[in-house]
Amino acid sequence: MNEDLLQDTLDPADWGELRRQGHRMLDDMFDYLEHVRERPVWQPIPAAVREVFAQPLPQQPSSLEASHAVFMRDILPYAVGNAHPGFMGWVHGGGTAVGMLAEMLSAGLNANLGGRDQIPVEVERQVMRWMRDLFGFPESASGLFVTGTSMANFIAVLIARTAALGDQVRDAGVAADGRRLRAYTSASAHGCIAQAMDMAGLGMDALRVVAVNEQYQIDLTALAAAIDEDRRLGFTPFLIAASAGTVDVGAVDALDAVAELAQREALWFHVDGAYGALAMLAPEIAPRLKGIERADSIAFDFHKWGQVPYDAGFILVRDGSLHYDTFASPAAYLRREACGMAAGSPWPCDFGPDLSRGFRALKAWFTIQVYGAERLGAVIAQTCALAQYFRQRIEQTPALELLAPVSLNIVCFRYRGADADRLNAAIAVAVQNSGIAAPSTTTVNGNLAIRAAIVNHRTQVTDIDALIDAVIQFGNLLNDNRDRP
Ligand SMILES: Cc1ncc(COP(=O)(O)O)c(C=O)c1O
Repeated sequence: MNEDLLQDTLDPADWGELRRQGHRMLDDMFDYLEHVRERPVWQPIPAAVREVFAQPLPQQPSSLEASHAVFMRDILPYAVGNAHPGFMGWVHGGGTAVGMLAEMLSAGLNANLGGRDQIPVEVERQVMRWMRDLFGFPESASGLFVTGTSMANFIAVLIARTAALGDQVRDAGVAADGRRLRAYTSASAHGCIAQAMDMAGLGMDALRVVAVNEQYQIDLTALAAAIDEDRRLGFTPFLIAASAGTVDVGAVDALDAVAELAQREALWFHVDGAYGALAMLAPEIAPRLKGIERADSIAFDFHKWGQVPYDAGFILVRDGSLHYDTFASPAAYLRREACGMAAGSPWPCDFGPDLSRGFRALKAWFTIQVYGAERLGAVIAQTCALAQYFRQRIEQTPALELLAPVSLNIVCFRYRGADADRLNAAIAVAVQNSGIAAPSTTTVNGNLAIRAAIVNHRTQVTDIDALIDAVIQFGNLLNDNRDRP
């Protein structure tokens, strides 16, 4: 044997030591999750910690123990804190220890779910079928794990475009057809829908942003008028993107009525249900989504209300063959066979832009298996009940003012005072810096609102009380200080 050919591998020389170190790392993460409540939600990052991550490319090896120590000292304490029960800033899920363990298993297996005949793909298909049944979609439906709802919405726009222009659009491009497509969404919709129009080459101007009613739902009269007007002007309406849980206030569009209109106008009916769609798991909330079962496509995230660790977005499509026709790209090196490893076509890579794909499905599969749909639904209902408690406390507190109806799990409010926008922005930062809780801010009807999105399964009444008390305390303080000369 040629000794020169003996290769170095990246596996350890001493598996025993790796095993011991691995157990220490696992224990640290269990400790983190078990005691997360005792930590600040978030803390400002010292300059010296940032400096650690400004070091040049390391040329020489160092021990796993050393990198783990850096993680514990300089990374773990300075994450945004969405695992913490006091995190209510943005629409972020809390994750679970079960999801974390599943993530470790999938990393160990290192499966690439682009395709081929392997059970990991079958796991993804099983989750797809569960979702298909949950949303009342037919057997011909298709689905795919993606990074998040931004990507899922983008995929939906591309399929809707194929539905409108035919699959020759994939060769000829959107300009060749000559028709000028128009899509519709509400003023409360997430910005990634406009971004999807941009990335699809249709342009953001091709998205008409329709006014909302006092419940922050898309105004159906205005929507119908916009479609009419566009047809008269020679545009080709092709897509309505409704929202099931808007990012600012948690509004759910009147999905049944939107479905009706889309059907009458022969438009693609897409639902951005980034976090709200999984309310289908909660029997007390699910009726609010009535009409979602009529959608042509639904985008949602397991990493939000589903409590699956990041990232785990999903796109569900009623017409699986149209979905396939939008993305499938035969290539010699992806040749399919009736048997052997290249069997099992169609593959996940035929339904989206990613060829290399991780085993996201496993952490969703574990989460659903271990907790069961009922318990996950109960957590969703619980966050909505907490939001109603939050609303009541605001209504009973003269210093505070509710700024939007509480539809699901998002509460927008402010501390009353002069120059309220500036004051409330300062309050939100003060609360974040305190580590007590983490709200964010948004603009509702032109007013700056402190926004609390209750997504995390760990959040309890005491966390709501702590956030409200902190807002009042910092509000009083900042208000008083301002009044002084
Ligand atoms: C309604 C809505 N749509 C889309 C998104 C984007 O989802 P993601 O961050 O998973 O890409 C969000 C994120 O919060 C959202 O709330």
